[in-house]
Amino acid sequence: MNNFQYKNPTKILFGKGQIENLSTEIPKNSKVLLLYGGGSIKKNGVYEQVTSALSNFEVIEFGGIPANPEYAVLMEALKVIKEKNITFLLAVGGGSVIDGTKFLSAAALFEGDTPWDILTKNIRSLNGMPFGAVLTLPATGSEMNSGAVITRAETQEKLAMGGPGLFPVFSVLDPEVVKSIPQRQIANGLADAFTHVLEQYMTYPVDAKIQDRFAESILQTLVEVAPTILNDTSDYEAASNFMWSCTMALNGLIQQGVPSDWAIHMMGHELTALFGIDHARTLAIIAESHYTYNLEDKKDKLAQYAERVWNVTEGTPEEKAVAGIKKTTEFFQSLGIKTKLSEYTEDYQGTAQQISKRFEERGWKGLGEHGKVSPSDVEKIVEMSY
Ligand code: NZQ
Ligand code: ZN
Repeated sequence: MNNFQYKNPTKILFGKGQIENLSTEIPKNSKVLLLYGGGSIKKNGVYEQVTSALSNFEVIEFGGIPANPEYAVLMEALKVIKEKNITFLLAVGGGSVIDGTKFLSAAALFEGDTPWDILTKNIRSLNGMPFGAVLTLPATGSEMNSGAVITRAETQEKLAMGGPGLFPVFSVLDPEVVKSIPQRQIANGLADAFTHVLEQYMTYPVDAKIQDRFAESILQTLVEVAPTILNDTSDYEAASNFMWSCTMALNGLIQQGVPSDWAIHMMGHELTALFGIDHARTLAIIAESHYTYNLEDKKDKLAQYAERVWNVTEGTPEEKAVAGIKKTTEFFQSLGIKTKLSEYTEDYQGTAQQISKRFEERGWKGLGEHGKVSPSDVEKIVEMSY
């Protein structure tokens, strides 16, 4: 096991009725900016619960943060924060609203002229304006981590940011919010969380038994609850297990002391930036090719995964590894997710070269757990995903 230091300061309020506790979690006398997305919270009762819990606070609202939170929209919110002397941010939404709020938390205290530099210059946020979250869509784990991904339509870019100052102070996880989530987003949540675990697991063995078994248990839980929650979003027990699996998949716990990869996400983000494909679906497009291309390096963990998660008992380690990749693709497909780029766009020719060129220009010369997936490897992997 590798060395690590681990601290996660986010307080979790899990379960039915927890939204009302906002009244005591937000510091007294805060001037709150309530941030939300395209309006789903106004149709499912979440907005009423939140505003009633905030009745003793001075609250200003900012809605309209789109999926894949857009820089230009967030810059409008930043103006409100400054003009109205906001002191606390409350994100009510999925990963996009929470990520957008993290950007604002960092940008509110940023001393440079152009907050976009936080993303392009890789500036780690050691401090941020305090914020909390009411999660409405299990998927990203953003509710209990300190990372965010921001999109800029103008330049077709989608870049990551983060730092220890960007953990939510608290996050409310009420599984009842799952009831109103459309099937497409449930499938996305399952696939995104599943891939988060894979990115921190499908590397090479370092004899980290606990991390491996935590990771495998999250994968098994997602596989087990997937059909139930897809079939009936009002199943509270399935929703609870789905929600907590997604949070546990990316709150930092399973990545301590083990190598991690994240190349699938780096390539996937480009597909969202170029084609607007849902984040989770881009991962399902890239995963099989990435694991097949890097089979030699990942064989041991792939075989362990095939055995422990999918009960593959026959064959050599290499045959088990290949079977594990196939099971992964079949799992995504069982969620109704297409796994080839050509199934999303007719305009895919040249994508691999374009992405590889972008990585070259950004100096992303070696991705993956060994830091050796080069732009030319990226080109081949994306091409295999057509
Ligand atoms: O905008 P509204 O109207 O709220 O509708 C949203 C949105 O259209 C809807 N929705 C959310 N909760 C709902 C609901 N509809 C009905 N009932 C509810 N309870 O779902 C749609 C998608 O929401 P979004 O927040 O975009 O989805 P998700 O949570 O999957 O977030 C995706 C974003 O997170 C980033 C992705 O790149 C993408 O930008 N990620 C963030 C990560 C992180 N911070 O750690 C890691 C991830 O790998 C990922 O990159
Ligand atoms: Zn993801």
